Amino acid sequence: MSSSSAGDADFERLLEYIEDSLRFQTSSYNDAYLDRRISARMRRRRVDEYDEYQNLLRTEDDEQAALLDALSVNVTSFFRNPKVWDALRDVLRDLSSRGSRHDPIKVWSAACSDGREAYSLAMLAHDDDHVDERRIEIVGTDIKREILRAARNGEYRASETNDIAEQLDPIGRWDRYVDRDGDIFRVKDKITDMVRFSRRDLIREDPPGTFDLVVCRNLFIYINAESKRAVFETLGSALKPNGYLTIGMTETIPPRVRTQFDPVEKRLRIYRASDAAAQR
Ligand SMILES: C[S@@+](CC[C@H](N)C(=O)[O-])C[C@H]1O[C@@H](n2cnc3c(N)ncnc32)[C@H](O)[C@@H]1O
Repeated sequence: MSSSSAGDADFERLLEYIEDSLRFQTSSYNDAYLDRRISARMRRRRVDEYDEYQNLLRTEDDEQAALLDALSVNVTSFFRNPKVWDALRDVLRDLSSRGSRHDPIKVWSAACSDGREAYSLAMLAHDDDHVDERRIEIVGTDIKREILRAARNGEYRASETNDIAEQLDPIGRWDRYVDRDGDIFRVKDKITDMVRFSRRDLIREDPPGTFDLVVCRNLFIYINAESKRAVFETLGSALKPNGYLTIGMTETIPPRVRTQFDPVEKRLRIYRASDAAAQR
């Protein structure tokens, strides 16, 4: 299925149906990603053809829900890719050395999923003696309302595939920031109080302000080239002069907007707004 989907009329019709009737914006995502997810559902339902699967979707509400669930990837963790977090510690220190000690340092976790990325930033600020956490203001945004409810809740359950204690390891004595009750991990108020969450579509909407650090990781792997350019424009316009941007470890900046970002730690995908960006 995967190799023949692009240009396949039935596949295109199925994507149109999903966009119009199920209200999932397939046109923003890349075909290979959509095909992988749809094909996984089709295998599960033992259906071989896209048109057959579309008929199934028309008649079964449960399958619609299962597909929508499969299409929205919210995978995240605390301190995802720990090496990046070592480098982000240096970024927070650099930002703390700028301006007056009363100036807020504004941080945006864009496409934050269930909030673990935003809370990791807050814990990092608390953990570092060179960073005054009272200056740090974090905004977390995502397109999905339910995931933002989970983020505001700040409660996470460990499971076989989700070892929360292991995820928290990079910050050392994490019991200073998170309470544990069996399998349930509850982020303490002093951390949750540092973060505000709101809904935002990064492809279609403006940024929620201007920021010293923007963290936008593991969204670009799913979206198509046009949407990617739109998101980079949004992120670029959200950066203060000399502000930092971090993207996912396997993601790249499109050539057309590359001059706006100077690499700081190229391998870890940490960049700073370039002078060219400031002159725009
Ligand atoms: C794989 S998660 C990444 C979470 C976190 N940044 C990380 O790296 O662990 C991708 C997130 O992007 C969100 N998302 C997808 N399309 C979006 C859009 N157009 N605008 C904002 N968020 C979007 C999804 O809801 C999901 O929570």
